[in-house]
Amino acid sequence: MAKPVIAPSILSADFARLGEEVDNVLAAGADWVHFDVMDNHYVPNLTIGPMVCEALRKHGVTAPIDVHLMIQPVDRIIPDFAQAGATTISFHPEASEHPHRTIQSIRDAGCKPGLVFNPGTALNHLDWLINEVDLVLLMSVNPGFGGQKFIPATLDKLREARKRIDASGRDIRLEVDGGIKADNIGSVAAAGADTFVAGSAIFGADDYGQVIAGMREEIEQ
Ligand code: DX5
Ligand code: ZN
Repeated sequence: MAKPVIAPSILSADFARLGEEVDNVLAAGADWVHFDVMDNHYVPNLTIGPMVCEALRKHGVTAPIDVHLMIQPVDRIIPDFAQAGATTISFHPEASEHPHRTIQSIRDAGCKPGLVFNPGTALNHLDWLINEVDLVLLMSVNPGFGGQKFIPATLDKLREARKRIDASGRDIRLEVDGGIKADNIGSVAAAGADTFVAGSAIFGADDYGQVIAGMREEIEQ
């Protein structure tokens, strides 16, 4: 397995103290910052945009910022996120008119492109796009909210995605997002994920370091 990455979703952080929360979670051992962008159109919730990403960079955050776009349309915000310091930019292919073009524009902007699959979305979009992406993100809940329950069918889908990634021979991260906790992260890792988003499980705890260390132990078993 590629080095496991734990990416806390700041959706569950205290937004009134966001800089401090991100500093704390990175000091507690997190690898990436998962940044959920929702538009009250593609998903029924509204969150944060490029200004907040830029503010985190100005605050001094140097860790990768993993932008998860749950928006429609997708394309016009990409240069703004690149400028704001995004590292990866992932989008839902059905939210873009031309996913291949969107991927190219993410790369042209200097970021790593990723494709996101909802629980009900087949992996077919990978047929002709797998050679273009650096990340495949499988949603293990329907997008829009933190704190939902992990959908078990994701395990089979992860195994399928892992096969496709291995067959491609490319260096592609397989990320999972939604309902990830210390008690299911082991099975998610065994199914092939190497990058783990967790929001409520980490930010809902008193000791972020303890949760992250516990997750790493489960992944490595
Ligand atoms: C859901 C978001 C997730 C969410 C995960 O639409 O994409 O990143 O914050 O939160 P938990 O880990 O609480 O399910
Ligand atoms: Zn997310």
